[in-house]
Amino acid sequence: MSDLDKKVQQATELLPGAGYPKQKSKYKSVAIKAGLVALAFFISAATFSARGAFRESQQVNTNVCSQVAELIPEKNGVVWKLSKVYFGTPRFKKRAVEWLGGAIRVPTETHDKMQPVGIDPRWETFGVLQDYLLQAFPKVHTALELTKVNTYGLLYEWKGSDASLKPLLLAAHQDVIPVENATLGQWQHEPFSGHFDGEYIWGRGSSDDKHGLIGIMSAVESLLELKFKPTRSVVLAFGIDEEIGGLNGARSLATVMLEKFGPKSFAMLIDEGVGYGPQYGQIFALPGIAEKGTLHIRIDLASPGGHSSVPPPHTSIGMLAKLLVEIEENPFEAHLTRGSPTYKTAQCLAEHGPEMLPALRKNIRLSQYSDEALREAEILLLQNPMFKTLVGTTQSINLIQGGIKTNALPEQAWAVVNHRISTESSLNETTSRQTDLLRPLASGFNLSYTAFGASLSEPDVPAYGSLNLSDAWGTGTEPAPVSPTDENAAPYDLLSGTIKAAYNSHRGIKGDNNVVVSPGIMPGNTDTRHYWKLTDHIFRYRHVRLGGCLPNNPHTVNEGILISMLVMEADNFVEIIRFFTALVLNADESELI
Ligand SMILES: *[C@@H]1O[C@H](CO)[C@@H](O)[C@H](O)[C@H]1NC(C)=O
Ligand SMILES: *[C@@H]1O[C@H](CO)[C@@H](O)[C@H](O)[C@H]1NC(C)=O
Ligand SMILES: *[C@@H]1O[C@H](CO)[C@@H](O)[C@H](O)[C@H]1NC(C)=O
Ligand SMILES: *[C@@H]1O[C@H](CO)[C@@H](O)[C@H](O)[C@H]1NC(C)=O
Ligand SMILES: [Zn+2]
Repeated sequence: MSDLDKKVQQATELLPGAGYPKQKSKYKSVAIKAGLVALAFFISAATFSARGAFRESQQVNTNVCSQVAELIPEKNGVVWKLSKVYFGTPRFKKRAVEWLGGAIRVPTETHDKMQPVGIDPRWETFGVLQDYLLQAFPKVHTALELTKVNTYGLLYEWKGSDASLKPLLLAAHQDVIPVENATLGQWQHEPFSGHFDGEYIWGRGSSDDKHGLIGIMSAVESLLELKFKPTRSVVLAFGIDEEIGGLNGARSLATVMLEKFGPKSFAMLIDEGVGYGPQYGQIFALPGIAEKGTLHIRIDLASPGGHSSVPPPHTSIGMLAKLLVEIEENPFEAHLTRGSPTYKTAQCLAEHGPEMLPALRKNIRLSQYSDEALREAEILLLQNPMFKTLVGTTQSINLIQGGIKTNALPEQAWAVVNHRISTESSLNETTSRQTDLLRPLASGFNLSYTAFGASLSEPDVPAYGSLNLSDAWGTGTEPAPVSPTDENAAPYDLLSGTIKAAYNSHRGIKGDNNVVVSPGIMPGNTDTRHYWKLTDHIFRYRHVRLGGCLPNNPHTVNEGILISMLVMEADNFVEIIRFFTALVLNADESELI
């Protein structure tokens, strides 16, 4: 056992529940993001699919969701061919399993309300991960220049021979969401064991996002072993706190990159996101070209206290409750909008998914020109709750507090409502809408009303109490700018062709539509929210196989997705390494990006 192993072990022993007896279980420990990814992906087979007369009925509309051919490195063809052989060996697979397992064994949990790096000792575990990376990827650390940002953020630069080419930026996050003690019994293998059962690599982070982090590092290490020398620079940016907003990691990295490379200085950026899997009888890959916005609205209500023996008709809690009911009774409307990312996804599924219900396909196709068809398509698509949440702004009341004593009137009560803002909307539209919604109740209860810094009631008129809406943590984020995917969007095409090449190469097959690439949307946030200034071409994509790859032949798709968030199929992990390898080689030789 090396020093490093010891450190890793020590770190592991600090974990909640280290040494718990292993228990059989139902793979139930659920990552929040698991749900999100499931949601992004399974727009739904069940609701609309039907074995339609796809081929006979209409031919594919070639202008919509047109597909590029698989993109096989040519100038770098020798390295690509060598890598193909290398990655296919059992020895490489074993190595890949060890690489990922080792990273999982360092429990890099991030928690809400962490103090800054240097003050909160919980960050120190990231030092252990740094040591691990240093030991596991020696060539990367020799050939690339490493800048540590805010101590634990990692920025690697692999300098290409031609400085005039915009670098490729690959991002991942080092942190994982905490394992709740209550779920420990449900883990079949300990959450930070990195256990390999012959098929799956187990543990928190195996698929969010250490498969990304280690997939990138493994690809670069392998390329160095194969003596590849880049023409175009490659930059790797690994944040430390994506799961809590990226303020300590990605935000600091963004500042450093902006200074070092300048605005819009990268050819394209790939960060975590959705993968590929079956939809309507076809394998689709869905790189996220956009990301919904986020806003936590805090609602503060104050009214006079006093003894509860002489109560007013409404206490702060009662009034707050009424406001919350009003919010829930008035969800945001969701509309399918031409040209939006979700519309593009629907179009692509309609063009390329043979099992889509013919009526839906027809409406989606006609909707390009007909408003009536657009509304019909919308009605059908929004019947699916998951699709609906992707399209519209969502709201969810997640925190509430008020009152201190059973016989005292509560002077204060507050709640926080989480919003995921539609790519077709904005922070302003969201705050305005909620402000207007609550206005009649505020005046009905005779409350002075302040919303997002603006006083909305007459200043000198006496009020019974006050209502104050605010951005709960000042972290409201606009929906991301949409990355271009039209005919001339070379980076999107390069990504699409690379996805196909990696998919085919891993299976030893040929053909351009074994996997169809469609614009997708990321319902949750990623570190890319801090990287908008670096490039217009941001894609949230991991080459992960979703669905149909699960242990014990589970019954439902959802169950499957949840499982896949806790384990990583070793075979698929090798495929991820192929993907990053192909991406580096293709970007390297491209004259279009
Ligand atoms: C989880 O359990 C560990 C060890 O039993 C304990 O130290 C830790 O405080 C617990 N965490 C929570 C959130 O309860
Ligand atoms: C915010 O939205 C409101 C209503 O939607 C609009 O009247 C106002 O002009 C917007 N303000 C800004 C700064 O965009
Ligand atoms: C609102 O409350 C204040 C303070 O209790 C009171 O003076 C005022 O008359 C009330 N106004 C209305 C319209 O009820
Ligand atoms: C409303 O809440 C915000 C955030 O807590 C606070 O900064 C502001 O002072 C409050 N405004 C009023 C009028 O209470
Ligand atoms: Zn993640």
